[in-house]
Amino acid sequence: FESKQNVTKTSKISHAKRLPNAIIIGVRKGGTRALLEFLRLHPKVKTCTREIHFFDNNDNYLRGLEWYRQQMPDSLPGDITIEKTPSYFVTDKVPKRIYEMSQNVKLIVILRDPTERAISDYVQVQLKKPDRMPSFETFVTKGEELRSSISAIQIGLYIEHLRKWLNYFPISQLHFVSMENMTITPSVELQAVEKFLNLEPFINEKLFYFNETKGFPCFSANAQGRNRNSGCLSAEKGRPHPVIRSNILKLLRDYYRPYNQELYKEVHRDFGWP
Ligand code: A3P
Repeated sequence: FESKQNVTKTSKISHAKRLPNAIIIGVRKGGTRALLEFLRLHPKVKTCTREIHFFDNNDNYLRGLEWYRQQMPDSLPGDITIEKTPSYFVTDKVPKRIYEMSQNVKLIVILRDPTERAISDYVQVQLKKPDRMPSFETFVTKGEELRSSISAIQIGLYIEHLRKWLNYFPISQLHFVSMENMTITPSVELQAVEKFLNLEPFINEKLFYFNETKGFPCFSANAQGRNRNSGCLSAEKGRPHPVIRSNILKLLRDYYRPYNQELYKEVHRDFGWP
């Protein structure tokens, strides 16, 4: 009886809130929610449900690291605590601030074809202010030119943002997930993340099924506790996109292409974006 009490006591003591071992730093509309939810399948992964915005929001940052730690989920020693705030990737002051918290924290970035990402971004903003948003084509152009300074387009210059991180962290400390690949074979992308996080293999293809209506992978009945209703993420994830005029798509693709090529070289991976 005594020893049983001791175990209970010990396990209570070791349950604690810990600073993150890994952060999903981006990219906005890149599939960050799906990645976080999929990773949570692993019994050793503990995640914050909401985005904390600690490193990019000055008011939050001034609250200090102890406040940040309090926002974390309970975890056991050996667990991996993960936070995701997609705006970290593109916010200039964030790499230094994260480095000052921990030089060893692992950084995960899920990337998506920047043209598709820009459309996804537009759809999100448009839903928030439907009366004030012009068509996508009008929004991203001025005359014949691309309005390349707007944030919906700037966010897609992944290599430019990445360079700011490489001033603080070696490339080996960042892991890149392909959203397109995660949509086709989620377990393959997730297994690579498990490896990056030094987690024992747990995630496999049986935990997912492709939902034709949703157009995305969802949790299968094997993903215990995650398969309420269809097992899919909410309707806010995987929204329908408008059909974009082909000349505007070409303008965007031509603009992004050289940046994408530089990114592929830097991360030693060809994401295959058109
Ligand atoms: P759309 O809604 O424009 O299609 P984030 O979570 O970073 O905001 O990214 C949202 C995007 O995640 C969605 O953008 C969708 O394309 C993508 N996504 C990737 N995998 C998904 C999945 N399994 N279920 C739903 N959306 C997914």
